[in-house]
Amino acid sequence: MNIEHATKQLEQMRQEAYAYTDKGKVASYIPELAKEDPCQIGVSVCLPDGTILSAGEADKPFTLQSISKIFSLIVALCQNGQSYVFERVGKEPTGDPFNSIIKLETIKPHRPLNPMINAGAIAVAGMIRGKDVEERLQSVLELLRKMTGNPQIGINEAVYCSEKKTADRNRALAWFLKDSGVLTGDVEETLDLYFRHCSIEVTAKEVARLGMVLAADGMDIMTKESVFPAEVARICKTFMVTCGMYNASGEFAIDVGIPAKSGVAGGILATVPNKMGIGVFGPALDEKGNSVAGVKLLELLSKEWKLGIF
Ligand code: DON
Repeated sequence: MNIEHATKQLEQMRQEAYAYTDKGKVASYIPELAKEDPCQIGVSVCLPDGTILSAGEADKPFTLQSISKIFSLIVALCQNGQSYVFERVGKEPTGDPFNSIIKLETIKPHRPLNPMINAGAIAVAGMIRGKDVEERLQSVLELLRKMTGNPQIGINEAVYCSEKKTADRNRALAWFLKDSGVLTGDVEETLDLYFRHCSIEVTAKEVARLGMVLAADGMDIMTKESVFPAEVARICKTFMVTCGMYNASGEFAIDVGIPAKSGVAGGILATVPNKMGIGVFGPALDEKGNSVAGVKLLELLSKEWKLGIF
């Protein structure tokens, strides 16, 4: 790949996608996120040798939100193994919004359909081991620090407190999970861990690197050491295809065709197996909670560079 030419293309695509920033709204149900300027769009691409190409707001910190669900799942799978995890959370897409409660009651057994929706990720947070919330959070932070090579990765306290104060829907999901036996132990502590891992702060450049480690089947691209097993990476990438963009996952698979995971702060992590990781930041969201300009940018990029996996 000619880096100079590719960077120019990235900037052109970013400009085209910029026109879509006024077609969405920043998330406001977490008050702190409502302060974000919607007219931002940044993108970074990380290649297998660690080279990073960027355009736009690629150094702007934002919170992972639902993108963190991939990393809590990695920790839960590494600590407990597949059978323990998938006895408590399913493997099927929902077709419902990310914070929906409806199928928890209507489908039996009453366990969340997958780990990418809020109910599923809260169940996964309940599986992360440690003597207290701090130690449980450290295992997620350590994973992210290893994957990005940035030992400073931490949480945005303002976003964490803002979500914690306003998370009645997530509390309802968690207490329902406790009632149906999916969550055991202290519910408020598990919710606290969930809010904290959603508030982990990153940049699009770091998200691109995270995507590259997934693309390399869990291998640290700089040290060439395995951070987590290839089998765990395979499971995560499959969930990203089937459930990563919530109830827009089918449309995204057809229009973009790359495993991806979005978050309500406007981030998208995309991973092109064996080729590259992509990080996008564009806080204006569509009605399903995905970055409008970010999805457009990934669509342009996938077509221009022929990245679709299907
Ligand atoms: O639990 C929540 O609602 C947020 N912390 C995360 C939701 C989210 O990012 C959904 N993504 N599109």
